[in-house]
Amino acid sequence: MLNTMVWGGDRLTLLDQTKLPAVTEYIDCFDHLRVKEAIARLEVRGAPAIGAAAAFAMVLGAKHSQHEPFLSQLEEIAADLESARPTAVNLAWGCRTIIDTAKKFYEEGLRGSLLLKKLEEKAVAIYEEDIAANKKMGEHGAALLPKEAVVLTHCNAGALATCGWGTALGVVRSAYLQGKIKMVYSDETRPLLQGARLTAYELAEEGIPVTCITDGMAAWTMKEKKVDCVIVGADRIAANGDTANKIGTFNLALAARALHIPFYVAAPASTFDLHLADGSAIPIEERAPEEIKKFAGHIIAPEKALVYNPAFDVTPAALITAIITEKGVIRPPYAQNISRLLKNKA
Ligand code: MRU
Repeated sequence: MLNTMVWGGDRLTLLDQTKLPAVTEYIDCFDHLRVKEAIARLEVRGAPAIGAAAAFAMVLGAKHSQHEPFLSQLEEIAADLESARPTAVNLAWGCRTIIDTAKKFYEEGLRGSLLLKKLEEKAVAIYEEDIAANKKMGEHGAALLPKEAVVLTHCNAGALATCGWGTALGVVRSAYLQGKIKMVYSDETRPLLQGARLTAYELAEEGIPVTCITDGMAAWTMKEKKVDCVIVGADRIAANGDTANKIGTFNLALAARALHIPFYVAAPASTFDLHLADGSAIPIEERAPEEIKKFAGHIIAPEKALVYNPAFDVTPAALITAIITEKGVIRPPYAQNISRLLKNKA
């Protein structure tokens, strides 16, 4: 399994996911601005990976701004990082967690290298806890799958989208270790092909059976190949269970409902945004028209045509069979069951 990121004390080294699977290359980020750029360019992507990268970026930012007023400088760095991508709530969560840690120890009188050490320890804990959460999620999710399971997934919610193991693909990995996976159908995930480039790569590298399909083939594949369930990740889950994830997820949920196939979302507690009552206020990132009009550098649409390029959609909670978290599996009614489960300690 490739490492998404490695913390080196003075730098955050990121695997450049825009170049996979053809080229394995790493980027050394010595300041928070380079991490912000990496997040915006999708060199690091996937909600939990973005959250952890942002936490390390805050530490780099703190190292470079040790003069007073320290806490307000951290606030500025966080605001800057959070502007890189709007939809995944983990980005703000990673920044806020470091700020809360800084406030706590600052108020206790810690300054300089002692304070920085606390921030660094917190960022490392975020990284390690993400892997542990994914493994727990994997166990909870694997229990939902039948023997010889045929699964369909979208985008990449694997080790590459997290600090390791993965959310939706973490469930697949755990189920595979239990001998339960017959086949995983991986949507290519237009326009940036995270499914074809990253999910198929991750699974194939580990010998997990994977078949690539284009996004438009998903409903037909579900029907013809007798898919047992759809499992996807999430970028932000509102208090009522409405879920933002990679564009195309909503289509899958509609098809799954029509075909009576369970539709599962796998996500850690850090992906829930309980400030939002429902999905209507989730900010949806819109990306450059070139991502649609060009394919592998070639122009594939007329210059005069307009482009609509939302990077995410919101699947209504009513279409979601269950949400798999590290704390357990949440089923409807989501409004009460989400808040009840998230209050429990893991
Ligand atoms: O644009 P991306 O590649 O960052 O989108 C990623 C997704 O939509 C994932 O499904 C989501 O972040 C969950 S990753 C565990």
